[in-house]
Amino acid sequence: MKKTISKKVTSFKGRLNIPGDKSISHRALILGAVAQGNTKVNGLLESHDVLNTMEALKKLGVDIHKENDGTWVISGVTDFKQPDSVIDMGNSGTAVRLLMGLLSAYPLRIQFTGDDSLRSRPMKRITDPLSKTGAVFQTTNGKLPIIMQGIDNEIAIDYVLPVASAQLKSALLLSGLRKKAKTTVFEPIPCRDHTERMLKAFGADIHVQKNSEDINVITLSGKKRLTACNICVPADISSAAFAIVAALITKDSEITIPNVGINPLRTGILDTLLQMGADIHFENRRVVSFEPVADLRIKTSPLKGIEVCAEKAPSMIDEYPVLAIAAAFAEGETILHGLSELKVKESNRFKAIIEGLNKNGIDCMEIDDNTIKICGRGKKACGGGMIESKLDHRIAMSFMVMGMASDVPVCIDDVSSVATSFPEFISMMNKAGANIYDYCD
Ligand code: S3P
Repeated sequence: MKKTISKKVTSFKGRLNIPGDKSISHRALILGAVAQGNTKVNGLLESHDVLNTMEALKKLGVDIHKENDGTWVISGVTDFKQPDSVIDMGNSGTAVRLLMGLLSAYPLRIQFTGDDSLRSRPMKRITDPLSKTGAVFQTTNGKLPIIMQGIDNEIAIDYVLPVASAQLKSALLLSGLRKKAKTTVFEPIPCRDHTERMLKAFGADIHVQKNSEDINVITLSGKKRLTACNICVPADISSAAFAIVAALITKDSEITIPNVGINPLRTGILDTLLQMGADIHFENRRVVSFEPVADLRIKTSPLKGIEVCAEKAPSMIDEYPVLAIAAAFAEGETILHGLSELKVKESNRFKAIIEGLNKNGIDCMEIDDNTIKICGRGKKACGGGMIESKLDHRIAMSFMVMGMASDVPVCIDDVSSVATSFPEFISMMNKAGANIYDYCD
């Protein structure tokens, strides 16, 4: 069986052009598909997850093509074609949830499915509120496969988000695009707002205001046709986080990462690493396509353990696995609160972090249902574990990063899932000094 090993590096240096933001790439394709005119996208992430969104939209009759200069062009439609086969979203929760939201307002009958990981993830959080509009979802256990019968009517959603989920928020907003009636989403805990920003740029009638209880109230009046936009997708901070942590924990390292998206609802990982003592510099801050971006410079840094409060979780929800690696190499304890959502990601990341660190000689334990403690070992020897990635790209990449600073190499059983978000991860990391390669046992 082919496995992958990551060995200790002597230095990690260079300029890393991290690929485009996954969340923004999905949204650019989806809004482009319903806008009037041609939406042009530069820097689109060409990973399996995003290509699955593209394939689904093509099945629905949307023309999407790539120009010679690398720009993707999406020609918006007014109506979707009834797809003649199942829509398989592979590993992507964002793709299936956002598309279910959008398509629930079209009179189409669609069967959605995904890989083993996606078929184990909860969908009721999406289908319950969408059902209130009259769309019908057939599922055996609230999970995929799901057969959806969409409906074109004026019943719009008025909903308080029970969980800080941008996928849920976005699905509900997209369900309102064809309705004149007002869709209202109350967001007690703010989470990534790429959908709101992009909808505004496409000319949607969308407003975000705080109410008297300091809760975000997002209102959208649909029906008005969106207008095509030009979008430059910034580098994905969630992918950049692997290179950032690798540079911090390896000796003699210095990297630059240009054009990183630093939307304040995504930068929890940078705030937390800075608090741990990381040497991270922001240069050339600017706004590109309605999103803040900057160039980042990162150097080897001694890190110290800290306590991270639950309120931080939505702004770094995908970065806990790699933050746990940083914590393993920090001096002292790190306590991470507010982790319940980690249990329903591509794998149960709450469990995967504890088990993976334990296998590599790091004391890490569950304090309660939502909290993990990691006993950092500073520069003391660790590693030697064999990680089961369970179709989870971020678990696979986090433990490859761990191997880069461990005295004993770290092995991963299957890194194929990395292609869902960051296909060039291993080659890019190796070019900067990593020593990651496949072997057969
Ligand atoms: C995403 C939202 C988050 C995140 C996922 C991408 C998005 O999921 O974990 O990787 O693009 O909206 P939740 O909405 O489930 O928190």
